[in-house]
Amino acid sequence: MLTIAFVASALCALSAASPTAPAKRTVTIPMVRRSAPSSSGTADMADLEAQANALVLKYESGIYAYAQTTGADPPFSPSFARRAATERAYASEELTGAHSGALWQGLVTVGTPTQTFTVSFDTGFGDVVLPGTACNTCKGRLQYNPVASTSAVDRREAFKWMSPDGSMSGRVYGDSVGIAGLEVRNQTLAVASAYTPDFSTALLPADGVLGLAFPSVSRLGTPSFLQSLVDQHQIASPIFAFKLADAGAELTLGGANSALYTDKFTYVPVQTASFWNVRLDGVSLNGTLAVGGRASMLDTGTALLLAPADDAHALYGALPGARPQRTPAGDTLYMFPCAGAPTLGLVFNGKAFKVPRASFSLGGVQEREGVCVGAVAGSERVAFWVVGTTFLQTVYTEFDVGKSRIGFAALK
Ligand SMILES: *[C@@H]1O[C@H](CO)[C@@H](O)[C@H](O)[C@H]1NC(C)=O
Ligand SMILES: *[C@@H]1O[C@H](CO)[C@@H](O)[C@H](O)[C@H]1NC(C)=O
Repeated sequence: MLTIAFVASALCALSAASPTAPAKRTVTIPMVRRSAPSSSGTADMADLEAQANALVLKYESGIYAYAQTTGADPPFSPSFARRAATERAYASEELTGAHSGALWQGLVTVGTPTQTFTVSFDTGFGDVVLPGTACNTCKGRLQYNPVASTSAVDRREAFKWMSPDGSMSGRVYGDSVGIAGLEVRNQTLAVASAYTPDFSTALLPADGVLGLAFPSVSRLGTPSFLQSLVDQHQIASPIFAFKLADAGAELTLGGANSALYTDKFTYVPVQTASFWNVRLDGVSLNGTLAVGGRASMLDTGTALLLAPADDAHALYGALPGARPQRTPAGDTLYMFPCAGAPTLGLVFNGKAFKVPRASFSLGGVQEREGVCVGAVAGSERVAFWVVGTTFLQTVYTEFDVGKSRIGFAALK
């Protein structure tokens, strides 16, 4: 199984470190926040509907890739392959290219001489995607030109990712990818000749996406950027960590930045190395438990918290004045009286982490004085929670590939 091979090779590379090996480092990538929903501003309902839909499609296609890679459905989504086959939404080698809104982005350089791009660092995505020069639906984005790069290798392979919302196609290249002074050679790149609506600038303000999920959900079935960093002895440990904040947001590769957190990490084991999949013991409103143990995915590529429909229903049932609003795609957003915003608590490994009242709202509803949209959306299309940056910006988070675990610590 690819997943185990990945973890094993990461550990192996780590233990193979010797004084003669090239210097390994920890580097920090500053990130900027883009297209942020805010509790003081107004929420664009259509945009949030599109975000929820794109998020579901991103997970469905990742699960499809997982089933292709391992020959089995992941335990957190036991009936997906059967459903996908029935609905014929995902054809056999055709996968979906959906992607949700990127809130924080950073810079990478690609090729020789270097071409610079902004990317969304997305823990819910398994590939590296850039718009190519042939893309005429990539307006406003910098476009990667392999012809201008002496290190680009045409892998002579086209890709086409199908989803219920359209297909994204392009060509596969290998090229050098640089980030904060580290360089990976021969990184597999999905170079798009078309961006689907799910990659619109409203949902993805960056030029491209750099996936940080495990290789089992890679749609191209190739090593991830992080695995390449480890294999090519570029980083000290197979670990990355995020501080997501309006100011001073940072991604650290090769370890955690101890200047950014206090106290010890609370660690949660990854259950199925695919997405960053950990057990969520419970969810509470103002300290009262509303939902019991569930599978959850930690996702830096979305602001939303997406819950199975019944869980969202139960959660908002405990919030006076909350009202559901169904989206055309069949997901549900919830509106509630802004003045009654609750504190949301997520329990991981027995410890409760709080999302403060001010962060529970994604913004006020236009022309509806005093009505806000909740950060938790519901969907009948997922059997697990997706925990986005509304939660992740309240903690310092370490993603440990070698030990297959996630650590949460208080932000300094
Ligand atoms: C580049 O990566 C691809 C896919 O992982 C591999 O098949 C190929 O052999 C690699 N080329 C070099 C020169 O390492
Ligand atoms: C949660 O607590 C806040 C602040 O005390 C309050 O305004 C809100 O109504 C409470 N909501 C629920 C569902 O208990």
